[in-house]
Amino acid sequence: MWGTDRIERLFRQMHHADPLIVRVPGRINLIGEHTDYNNGFVLPAAIDKTIYVAVNKRNDNKIHLHAEEYNENYIADIEKLRQQKFNWTSYVLGVVEQLLKSNYPVTGFNIVIDGDVPVGAGMASSAAIECATVFALSGLFDLGISRVDMVKIAHKAEQEFVGLQCGIMDMFSSMFGKKDHVICLDCRSCEYEYFPFKQDGVKIVLLNSSIRHSLAFSEYNNRRKECEEGVALIQQHHPQVQSLRDVNIEMLDKHVAHNKTVYNRCRFVVEENGRLLAGCVDLQKNDIHAFGKKMYATHKGLSKLFEVSCAELDILVELVKNNPGVIGTRMMGGGFGGCTINIVKEDSVEELIYDVRASYREKTGLNLSAYMASIEDGACIAETAGLYNE
Ligand code: GLA
Repeated sequence: MWGTDRIERLFRQMHHADPLIVRVPGRINLIGEHTDYNNGFVLPAAIDKTIYVAVNKRNDNKIHLHAEEYNENYIADIEKLRQQKFNWTSYVLGVVEQLLKSNYPVTGFNIVIDGDVPVGAGMASSAAIECATVFALSGLFDLGISRVDMVKIAHKAEQEFVGLQCGIMDMFSSMFGKKDHVICLDCRSCEYEYFPFKQDGVKIVLLNSSIRHSLAFSEYNNRRKECEEGVALIQQHHPQVQSLRDVNIEMLDKHVAHNKTVYNRCRFVVEENGRLLAGCVDLQKNDIHAFGKKMYATHKGLSKLFEVSCAELDILVELVKNNPGVIGTRMMGGGFGGCTINIVKEDSVEELIYDVRASYREKTGLNLSAYMASIEDGACIAETAGLYNE
């Protein structure tokens, strides 16, 4: 079983010392997709799928990394962080690079990574590793970095070292998650508000398409560029406009309609921000059914206008859409694979998963994995037994 005991044991076996351990969750996002890097709103939550990171100091300038998931080790020199090939180590080394750039006194350390956030499923495992690294190193070297600054450091690491021009949603959810609440985050100001999400009788079910299209990375960055192109077209007429957050449909119709692709991308984002704000009102009124309808609308927009869905995700949505036990469904996260998020009546969950698994295999030949997600607190330092003595 994953957990503090397991990583503590692993770490002791490898490094013969007691580590500092942090636990940082993955995330779901109820609504508000591809809005974060457009200065819009998102509605994520931290979940019970967790990354554990254990660290201690070394007496040299080396970083010894181990990822239990891949059973792989890597040694990096703190003075030469850049590497040729991108892989899981980039999430750690990218954070170290950011800390050094900001003159934080980081020297050599051992780090072991473990956890049960499925990789490539759209639950932001990479952001969780980045946040766990900065959180652990802040504790280990007594850097006193605030949570907001940790979010910023992890975000920059992803953008500059990994190269994904993502927004801050994933990191923010991992660091600021609150049990049984979703976070309504304004990505322009970083102001946020918690909304209770403990619906009696419903469950959040993640259905993993089990695929990750290779396009995901480059197409994500392309979408961001297309959104910026739309903003540039509007700025020629409305110089005060800074991002799609300041744009309305009328402006798009007037100034962007000639470029169909850019228009569609921008239209989705503008509509999605509106849907999210209306969805928050639904949650406040405890009207989960009205909220669920908005999730379908989001999927349609992501699939037809923003074009980040794929055949397998569309199949998953189609398979459950008319099921009376399903309140809302849509693809979640960056797209091109990963999971759908489904709000399902509790007493329908088992049968739904059973049925969808069979139909999905029949239609795609792929295995479907299903996860129940509960909403939990964000990053924290884990209690350790601290028993090592040599
Ligand atoms: C990925 C990115 C986030 C966000 C989502 C789409 O998860 O890391 O910043 O843009 O895609 O909403």
